[in-house]
Amino acid sequence: MTEGVQTSPAFTKRVFSGIQPTGHLTLGNYLGALKRFAEVQEQDYETIFCIVDQHAITATLQDPAALARATRELTAGFIASGIDPEKSVLFNQSQVAEHAQLAWIFNCVARMGWMQRMTQWKDKAGKNSQNASLGLFAYPALMAADILVYHATHVPVGEDQKQHVELTRDIATKFNHDYGVDFFPIAEPVIEGAATRVMSLRDGSKKMSKSDPSDMSRINMTDDADTIASKIRKARTDPDALPSEAKGLEDRAEARNLVNIYAALSDQSVEDVLRDVGGKQFSEFKPMLSDLAVAKLSPISTEMARLMEHQDEIDTILRKGAEQARAIAAPILSRTYEIIGMVR
Ligand code: AMP
Ligand code: TRP
Repeated sequence: MTEGVQTSPAFTKRVFSGIQPTGHLTLGNYLGALKRFAEVQEQDYETIFCIVDQHAITATLQDPAALARATRELTAGFIASGIDPEKSVLFNQSQVAEHAQLAWIFNCVARMGWMQRMTQWKDKAGKNSQNASLGLFAYPALMAADILVYHATHVPVGEDQKQHVELTRDIATKFNHDYGVDFFPIAEPVIEGAATRVMSLRDGSKKMSKSDPSDMSRINMTDDADTIASKIRKARTDPDALPSEAKGLEDRAEARNLVNIYAALSDQSVEDVLRDVGGKQFSEFKPMLSDLAVAKLSPISTEMARLMEHQDEIDTILRKGAEQARAIAAPILSRTYEIIGMVR
């Protein structure tokens, strides 16, 4: 990760990130989040990763069995993508009460106007905001608490979460200023790599998403080889050959997306990829991409399926992770209460 943190050196370099257990993991989650989490785990950071089940109930009612299953499947996805519970803290949010406790404090720090400006709120609540849950509106304050209850300094996320991390910085700044302390770090969003915004395979202007009604729009981490190949074969493209330079992709959203995916999966830059494939037609490039995707993703989906047969092991990992998380969060929450004047 690039440097440039504005936090004081007193803060440990600590990464926090979270993913919601809703639906199946997509290639967007893998390239934009999981793959990068596994990389940062090997660098000079403490790493904390969270399955944010309390965020998962903000938008719609989740079927209880589906939420439990998605939580375990996401845990399996983390581990299969290389997150090692011996090296990183891995747990689900609801087992660590400190997140919700600090979120209450932040609900009293954040302003209505800040929340109303969140583009994700506007998108998700839409015209029917009177009927959206209070939790959906307050969600970014909970996200700020997720990060700051660990004094995390770096937050790897996809492009879509940048605004929420900026709000986290605003909350930390206001808290520090209001109470005259230098207590919460000003966390940095880390948005890097060729695939910080993987787009739908059907529409290059839309994000690849778990919640898109069309399954053909995304590659799920649980898709088998034939499904992956068929989705890539049918992915929308234009009739031109691939360019030899990145500039040639500027007005070609669908082509750019497929090249970005290829670059991210093969750990190459877009320029390097285009040096090899420039001039090729999609009829030639798509099979290359689908072979690469299958080669990279099938070991992960196989491992996820294996882990899902050992539910007890998954639950033990989450419980142990929650204990480790609590050990970091509890003293930070306690100190927050003291700063505010809440008698301990
Ligand atoms: P979510 O599935 O919305 O909980 O997102 C979990 C993580 O995956 C966040 O860091 C997102 O920014 C990232 N993510 C989700 N969809 C995409 C996508 N299409 N491209 C890149 N990153 C994504
Ligand atoms: N809001 C994020 C998403 O929808 C998930 C999330 C919750 C998160 N808490 C977080 C991401 C803290 C990073 C840090 O993708």
